[in-house]
Amino acid sequence: MLDRAGTIGDPIASEVLYALAKSLFVVTNRRIACLDFGKTCARTGVSHTVDGKPEQIAEAVLRLRSGGLVAFPTETVYGLGADAMDEDAVRRVFAVKGRPAHNPLIVHVAGEAMAKSVAAEWPEDAQKLAKRFWPGPLSIVVPKKANVPQIVTGGGPNVAVRCPSHPLTLALLEAFGRPLVGPSANVSGFVSPTAAEHVREAFDERDVMVLDGGACTGGIESTVVSVVGGKARVLRSGLIDAGVIEEVLGREVECADSGRVSGTATTATPMDAPGQLSSHYAPKAKAVMVEAREVEDVISRARGECVLITHVAATSEPFPQPLPSGKGLSGHTIQMPGDANGYARRLYAALREADAMHPTLIVIVTPPDESTNPVWRAVRDRLKRATAEE
Ligand code: TXA
Ligand code: MG
Repeated sequence: MLDRAGTIGDPIASEVLYALAKSLFVVTNRRIACLDFGKTCARTGVSHTVDGKPEQIAEAVLRLRSGGLVAFPTETVYGLGADAMDEDAVRRVFAVKGRPAHNPLIVHVAGEAMAKSVAAEWPEDAQKLAKRFWPGPLSIVVPKKANVPQIVTGGGPNVAVRCPSHPLTLALLEAFGRPLVGPSANVSGFVSPTAAEHVREAFDERDVMVLDGGACTGGIESTVVSVVGGKARVLRSGLIDAGVIEEVLGREVECADSGRVSGTATTATPMDAPGQLSSHYAPKAKAVMVEAREVEDVISRARGECVLITHVAATSEPFPQPLPSGKGLSGHTIQMPGDANGYARRLYAALREADAMHPTLIVIVTPPDESTNPVWRAVRDRLKRATAEE
């Protein structure tokens, strides 16, 4: 009945919107009850609050039903949502992002039942992982059903599905009742958005409606794990580490970004991971990653304003803010948290802050390796791509 409803400004649509908003109150409230709002998320340690935004969810549903785009908050980064089953809508997502057509999109679902509606198979591995980590920052790649448009998977036979944990987006998925594609809501190749403001800066509001769910608590994109063909392979690292996935599956997991098999470094070539482009998540300014002892040298050779991104444990003496001039140093320091989750949460906002100062160079002190916390692996992966040459 509401399919292809008119634009929001039109009076008939406004009435429909009002009716839908009222009924969504019920949906949202039920969701609130299910999700136990106000509780602290065990994984991120941060509490979510959503004071029910039924009118906005109703407007978002109308937009999605008429093939429009809605950016939604998740616990990782903001996603650029469209009806996953609407080929034209998905084409619009690729167009506004400037995303290469071969790079597949993650399909966001309200839970396992919706995941199965796009999966040709739901292997036991997928079931175990979904039970343990959903809703949460894990995307699971499984064989796709024929009903999923080819454009969603970049022409490939498999689909990545994820059930995000942000209550506002779960309420949206339930109200919409269908899966949503959701690449990070940034122009392709640039820094991912961790606040609604970042999305508004990137896209025209006529093209993209933004559901504001506050700052993202995780800060880096989901772990992508493929369970196709009976093999478990981490294609993109994230807040959920390969080690925990191994514990859940009770066997070895390969890692595309390190050649690692069950904790052992190997010389295996990186496996097929579409879209894992080397330069990605990148600020506009040139950025480099260096050891703490190299910082002074690199900054003095840069001959211009630099922004230094360091972290509390990087040096025994934190770099001063602003950097002292005179020793060839000039510019600003952004001090990051010394813990891996705190660093991940701040990472993209820090890259944006650094970029906004239009420096000659962004100098990032290499963070610790994963020996103290596996989340550092994902942080380093993003920094490697942010500092990679095109
Ligand atoms: O946390 C996240 O995953 C966020 C939020 C919004 O959910 N989304 C996100 O989407 O980061 P995107 O498009 O920026 O990154 C998706 C990654 C890409 O590296 C893509 O190649 C991979 O997932 N991917 C998607 N579908 C795939 C598939 N069928 N097979 C293998 N890799 C896939
Ligand atoms: Mg992205």
